[in-house]
Amino acid sequence: MAGIVDTVKNTIAENVGGAGHNLASKDQQFSLSEVPDVSGKVAVVTGGTAGIGYACVRTLLANNISKVFIISSSKDSYDEAHKSLVEDLGEAAAGKTTYMECDLSDWPNVAKTADKIADQTDRIDIVINDAGRGIMTYQLTDYGVDRHMAVNHFGHVILTSHLLPVLKSTAEKGNTVRLVGLGSNAHQGTPSDCKFASLEELNQDLGPNGQYGRSKLAVMLYHRYLAKHLTSSHSKILSNSVHPGFVDTKMSQDDIHEPYPVAGYAMSVGMKPFKKSQWEGATSALYCATKTEKSGEYVCPPAIPEAGSKMAQDEDLGEALMALTKKVVKEKMFSGSVQQGCPFSFY
Ligand SMILES: NC(=O)c1ccc[n+]([C@@H]2O[C@H](COP(=O)([O-])OP(=O)(O)OC[C@H]3O[C@@H](n4cnc5c(N)ncnc54)[C@H](OP(=O)(O)O)[C@@H]3O)[C@@H](O)[C@H]2O)c1
Repeated sequence: MAGIVDTVKNTIAENVGGAGHNLASKDQQFSLSEVPDVSGKVAVVTGGTAGIGYACVRTLLANNISKVFIISSSKDSYDEAHKSLVEDLGEAAAGKTTYMECDLSDWPNVAKTADKIADQTDRIDIVINDAGRGIMTYQLTDYGVDRHMAVNHFGHVILTSHLLPVLKSTAEKGNTVRLVGLGSNAHQGTPSDCKFASLEELNQDLGPNGQYGRSKLAVMLYHRYLAKHLTSSHSKILSNSVHPGFVDTKMSQDDIHEPYPVAGYAMSVGMKPFKKSQWEGATSALYCATKTEKSGEYVCPPAIPEAGSKMAQDEDLGEALMALTKKVVKEKMFSGSVQQGCPFSFY
């Protein structure tokens, strides 16, 4: 009976806003007021212009981070974010952000953006892979890859891979480096026959929930893969994924109406009183970005480690995903650079 009660409490804490976080057990509590001082550190936050990513950026700045590189696809969203940061924290804090305009589905540009970041800093302590395509209809990129996977998974793999040399050197100087991927409990919507066996399989139209859920499963498998292959050789590089909860952002307010013009109101309006704010939604990401000493976990709000689905725990599926990732990236974009030591071979 106690087990069932704890499960119910955790489900509310992990997904619902308001006082939900209070239901987590004492050792799994965390709040933004507990984010430690991050003076001297440097972060990269994809999607740092809005929603959960913005809440991460704002909190890191409020805790004295030295520099934050923000990646998003539209300069307008950065201008809006910058304005809020100036109003809220002042020019000096807002001036610690460097904007890099880059659509994560544009892989050559992602690689260039990572290289430009590496040219501008000799350390990166935090990477929050937050940007994402939400529950939306199936689309192929012009180079023929499912857009959910292209943005949510492949773009972040290319970014993180190209940052690896600076991440490793940061860790080798004795600093803890924390990598965080925004997964989602929606990963449970991945069809059970998902094998990550071929590009043809990736390019099947699974419907908005399946498409999104599978890309979030990929984020979780990738961050566990990094824990297995990277933390094992570089113990100071930690890699975890998180669920932010059911959060009131553009994704759940507007984007949901693209696939579900009418039924989407159940989520955008009907569920509004139960959703977490962007600040509550940033709690698990900031816990993993600034506090955890563990690697390979899937953390739900406020700081509750969960196993995730059977597929999310399947190491062989993670290996298959990453073998396919390397193959697709090589075929589509980087056949030259893989031969010349593309960071994919650095693990
Ligand atoms: N909201 C939820 O309930 C919920 C639940 C579970 C998981 N998540 C995950 O949490 C993460 C953040 O979601 P959110 O709710 O905060 O979303 P959001 O408010 O819509 O913010 C998305 C951010 O990602 C950027 N972005 C979107 N597409 C991009 C692309 N192709 N290339 C580069 N940047 C891109 C956006 O900036 P631009 O417009 O400038 O590109 C924006 O900064 C996502 O990974 C999402 O899957 C959210």
